[in-house]
Amino acid sequence: MVIFKKAEGLIRYLLKIKEKGGFVSFVPTMGALHTGHISLLNEANGEGVTSVVSIFVNPTQFNDKSDYEQYPITIDEDITELQENGCDVLFLPSVTEMYPDGDDATPSFDFGYLETILEGAHRPGHFKGVGQVVGRFLDIVQPDKMYIGQKDYQQCMVLTSLIKQKGLQDKVQVVICDTKRAADGLALSSRNKRLTDPQRNVAGTIYQCLVSIRSKAEDGNFKVVHKESVELLEAKGFVPDYVALADANTLELLDEYDSDRKMVALIAAKIGSIRLIDNMLLN
Ligand code: PAF
Repeated sequence: MVIFKKAEGLIRYLLKIKEKGGFVSFVPTMGALHTGHISLLNEANGEGVTSVVSIFVNPTQFNDKSDYEQYPITIDEDITELQENGCDVLFLPSVTEMYPDGDDATPSFDFGYLETILEGAHRPGHFKGVGQVVGRFLDIVQPDKMYIGQKDYQQCMVLTSLIKQKGLQDKVQVVICDTKRAADGLALSSRNKRLTDPQRNVAGTIYQCLVSIRSKAEDGNFKVVHKESVELLEAKGFVPDYVALADANTLELLDEYDSDRKMVALIAAKIGSIRLIDNMLLN
């Protein structure tokens, strides 16, 4: 595995590969890698493909300063994991490398409605930051495919929109990979590393709620299921930000199940200072 800390060196390296007809796949991450990230890398690896993983804890996407400061950093373990799993290139830039002229001077994008609901509403500026950093990564890496996890459902929609806004829809294919889960259903996330044992013991409740919402999609009443889910989360010590039902294609929020649409249930809830998110397609 080759490690680049500077964009210039990486660009030159990848140019040579592309000139020889090589194919580049890209997995953007913020490190603290877990099985979910490694499954993205496994998807991204392949015959004749140069896989590039980035590790960069992007300050512009954290609306909560303490969340940024406490974001887990496990770089030595990450490097070993990536090496063991066949990563070809690791891009490990600094903040000044990503934002050489400051983040204000780095292009940002407008995600409209997506910035006003769910994660957008609860984390003001978050998607602007995500769009900004991934926009810059796309300029540097110029991948043929980018691999992202369905766990961040709304982010997947934001990044698909980013690709369109950058006019790259014919050049970069976005591959959305299934959420990886622990035995109790908890979606794998770097933030899980910060859970205490008692918090970890109840963290599967989010998944239980999603399963319950899905199981009642045929003939249930969402308002009732919503109330039950909020009550269960609260009983286990969570403070829910939202338990939501939405159109899976547009993320239009729904008050009630609508089997004529493809639906997704989404939950965000805090336990202690740790905020977890998850989602599930219903039909
Ligand atoms: O999902 C993440 O880890 C981040 O939001 C991403 C896409 C790497 C951008 O910083």
